[in-house]
Amino acid sequence: MKDYKELSQKAFELTQSEIERIKEPVVGLATGSTPEGLYQKMIEHYNKGYSYKHLTSFNLDEYIGLEESDPNSYHYYMNDKLFRHIDIKEEKAHVPSGITADFEKECASYEQAIKDSGGIDIQLLGLGVNGHIGFNEPGTPFDSQTHVVELEESTRDANAHFFASKGEVPRKAISMGIDTIMRSRKIILLVSGVKKSPALNKLLTKDVTERFPVSALHKHPDVTVIADEAAFTYVEKK
Ligand code: F6R
Repeated sequence: MKDYKELSQKAFELTQSEIERIKEPVVGLATGSTPEGLYQKMIEHYNKGYSYKHLTSFNLDEYIGLEESDPNSYHYYMNDKLFRHIDIKEEKAHVPSGITADFEKECASYEQAIKDSGGIDIQLLGLGVNGHIGFNEPGTPFDSQTHVVELEESTRDANAHFFASKGEVPRKAISMGIDTIMRSRKIILLVSGVKKSPALNKLLTKDVTERFPVSALHKHPDVTVIADEAAFTYVEKK
């Protein structure tokens, strides 16, 4: 893709065609800068008359310790960037809780809710500079399910721009595991910008290792990577 605009358009077309193909679609959603353009396109589509009433969604992750009303929580992000602008039903839009008293229970019930929905049809992913997907940092076992994670300093640095200062970036999060993600029937990985280029280059070497979480996708039968030209800056030509 030439640029972020084209990437967002392509991501929208692919996601939308899956959503329209399936009667009761279940979509896995990501937060961060990368999917914002895609969510904007979904809002535009809704404004032209399309209904997302039949959609069920599961977000990948949430920071631990942030209230839903906190502008840096992923609950807030999803409401702000997508949910409140379309007609998805509140009870069908799932985001793990970052403020529960019992995280073990929250993780287990999030997994169960995904299973009860029939499983994720299409999972959207962004890519961390360290190769994380969701908040699954390097070293996360490939058989992991929804769990509590300790965020790496590189992740806290990368996300600090959303906060007033780095000190405010939480140290822990709750995230779908690699196995949870891999059970999705179709996966779309969005990679935008020069900062992601070393990670994209590493992904394309095809080494599969828990030290580089996104490499698990090599073992999935249906993955589409949508990347812009900037993301190819450091990709070595074979
Ligand atoms: C967000 C998530 C993360 C981001 C990744 C890229 O829900 O799970 O894996 O997708 O950190 O973030 P951005 O898009 O901000 O570069």
